[in-house]
Amino acid sequence: MGKLWKLWVLLLMIGIGLVAWNVSRQADQERIVYDDEQKGLQKQIIIYFSHVVAENTPKGLAAQKFAELVEQKTNGRVKVEVFANGSLYSDGEELDALLRGDVQMIAPSFSKVTELIPEWQVLDLPFLFRDDDDVRRVFTGKVGAELLGMLEEKGIKGLAFWSNGFKQMMGTTRPLIEPDDFRGLRFRIMPSEVIDKQFRLLGGEPVAVSFDHVYRALEQHEFDGQENTISNIYSKGFYKFQPYITISNHGYLGYAVMMNRSFWDSLPKEIQQKIAEAMTEATQWNLRQSKAQNERELQQLKQQKSVQLYLLSEEERKRWEQKFAPLYKEFTRQFGSRMLNEIKGFRE
Ligand code: LMR
Repeated sequence: MGKLWKLWVLLLMIGIGLVAWNVSRQADQERIVYDDEQKGLQKQIIIYFSHVVAENTPKGLAAQKFAELVEQKTNGRVKVEVFANGSLYSDGEELDALLRGDVQMIAPSFSKVTELIPEWQVLDLPFLFRDDDDVRRVFTGKVGAELLGMLEEKGIKGLAFWSNGFKQMMGTTRPLIEPDDFRGLRFRIMPSEVIDKQFRLLGGEPVAVSFDHVYRALEQHEFDGQENTISNIYSKGFYKFQPYITISNHGYLGYAVMMNRSFWDSLPKEIQQKIAEAMTEATQWNLRQSKAQNERELQQLKQQKSVQLYLLSEEERKRWEQKFAPLYKEFTRQFGSRMLNEIKGFRE
């Protein structure tokens, strides 16, 4: 009896052991299947974001901020790899690279998009924006949305406008204060019809040169002047060659942040949503940060012994505006006055 009892206990324990082993094996299998599925779902999406300026600039910093926000909001599922300083593509190449899908994101200055969408010339008109509030209203409002919408049919998803700052005039050998000071001088410009005409109206000779060639061109004394923001002048050291800086705030340098449209369309809806949220936050951050950075670096430039800063007076500014009046006439003749009126309308 005693032996039989022991045998029963042994068999019972073996049975319990087998059931437990089977349950755990099934659980393991389920766990593995679940993991595999999750791995499939979690496959990382990589976005290459190429731009041409230094990392420590309004665009460079906003791109990094956006990358951080996207990674946080998607729990690492989307990774934005930022390439600064034109290390992947120069500004002359990046738009084609985006359209081919070789990179997924770029943020060229809007001036460089006017060749693709001529209506964007409106943003290059001198003295269009009075202050940073004007810029913010246009970039984040109805006109900004309308301009970004024009990119759709070109195969581009326009995500936002980012700011750098107001452009200032720089001279190599003399200050540029009166319209006559520009006569006969050679200026580096971004490729833009409005900017080209702006310098011609002042009697200058504009030449479009890609951003990555500017430093070398200045070193080789190819230009007598250019226009750029304090942030670009400071971060790229342009002031070493063009030390006469007129604070004219005559134009604005902003960026169109773009994504390849087929890539955007291929993203799951919830990922698009997270990217859009990250872009809204990065844009608000950029608007505050860009202003502060330009102000800070202006103070740094004031410390440079070689730099001669001149603040354009109200009367001098009016004389520039008179010279630039034909640009407004020409724009209205080509594109009508609706968009211009909308931009100016919010000031009333
Ligand atoms: C320039 O070409 O001067 C600028 O557009 C560069 C930039 O992207 O800020």
